[in-house]
Amino acid sequence: MADKQNYIAEGKAKFLVGNAFYRPASKIVRDLGVLAAAIYKSDTGNLRVLDAMTGCGVRSLRYWLESGANWIWANDSNPDLGNIVRQNLAPAIAAGCTQITHRDANRIFFECYDRKDYYDLVEVDSFGSGAPYLDTMLWACKIGGLLYLTSTDGRTGTGHLPENSLRAYGAYARTHPASQEQVLRLLIGSIQKAAATKRLGVEPIFSLFAGQTYRVMLRLTSKPRLTSENYGFLGYCHRCGEYQIVSWRKLGKVCCRVDNYNLSHSGPMWLGQLHDRLHLERLKQLAQQWDWKKQVELLTLMQAEADLPPYFYTLGEIGRRGKMDVTARSRLIQALIERGYRATSTHINAGAIKTDADLLTCIAVGRSLL
Ligand SMILES: C[S@@+](CC[C@H](N)C(=O)[O-])C[C@H]1O[C@@H](n2cnc3c(N)ncnc32)[C@H](O)[C@@H]1O
Ligand SMILES: [Zn+2]
Repeated sequence: MADKQNYIAEGKAKFLVGNAFYRPASKIVRDLGVLAAAIYKSDTGNLRVLDAMTGCGVRSLRYWLESGANWIWANDSNPDLGNIVRQNLAPAIAAGCTQITHRDANRIFFECYDRKDYYDLVEVDSFGSGAPYLDTMLWACKIGGLLYLTSTDGRTGTGHLPENSLRAYGAYARTHPASQEQVLRLLIGSIQKAAATKRLGVEPIFSLFAGQTYRVMLRLTSKPRLTSENYGFLGYCHRCGEYQIVSWRKLGKVCCRVDNYNLSHSGPMWLGQLHDRLHLERLKQLAQQWDWKKQVELLTLMQAEADLPPYFYTLGEIGRRGKMDVTARSRLIQALIERGYRATSTHINAGAIKTDADLLTCIAVGRSLL
């Protein structure tokens, strides 16, 4: 919300945007970051934030005001944003809690590593696929610390530009109806793989698709987490619309279990949980405390979908493949649950369901409701 002086209000922050890039629709992304950072601070007593692409400084300001950050490094390679960032972060500067720089983010990550100056939260809000930072951001993060990364490049990971995906994520991405979830999984998989090369791991805290931006919040762990089970391939059958997880050992041998048709494989990507359900519960409790209703709703939905298979079925596909009118989403979910399946809506696509039932079952159950 902007007032007469063109100040914007978001959370507890009031700030100017000037010539910086600022997307009001990404508020929800910043809200979840603020919640995760506040929980981290209450767990560890410390919160040093490296906001590597700060724009006008809104995230830094919110981490300081709302998450209780005790030190902020706000960086943006564009020196023309210096005045606006200094103006917005004036209270934190006055409190001696802030450093502002205008450098390339990767230089900062390596400088942190060189000085053994590791951060509790490394925030990378870049344009594009995030590829130049998937590996390097790890160098600045404390073990146990948080990594919050953005990709705004949907086309690469949704299978429209598979060669680009290969370059960005070392993974070949194909198109299918659940391809937005695939972008999140490619991001997590790439960071997991990068962490593994350092004998480290990452655990997803949450993964968020919001208005064309893809966001992953991960915790850096001292133990590698990558296994052949949680990092592999997703097969999609263009003939019948069914998905299948394809393990490394079965690559090349697997056909669709419904009609034996060749699968189109995407990956490798993260096949494990999209979110940490227990951690989401803590974020939710804090959001409830702060009376953040919309965020509570989103976190509840994320909890429900956290450990379901790594894809979803759109209602459009269920209707088209079943040659029938699509029933209401909530009725279909309820009917699947009554038949003993797990099923939920998904935050990634308002016209889809996540379930452990297969597509043919969804079609049969949908038909029974007509
Ligand atoms: C999406 S905007 C950041 C928006 C801001 N974080 C927010 O929430 O409003 C991306 C910013 O990254 C900066 N940038 C681009 N490449 C960079 C790099 N290599 N190192 C540091 N900053 C960079 C741009 O100048 C731009 O301000
Ligand atoms: Zn098939």
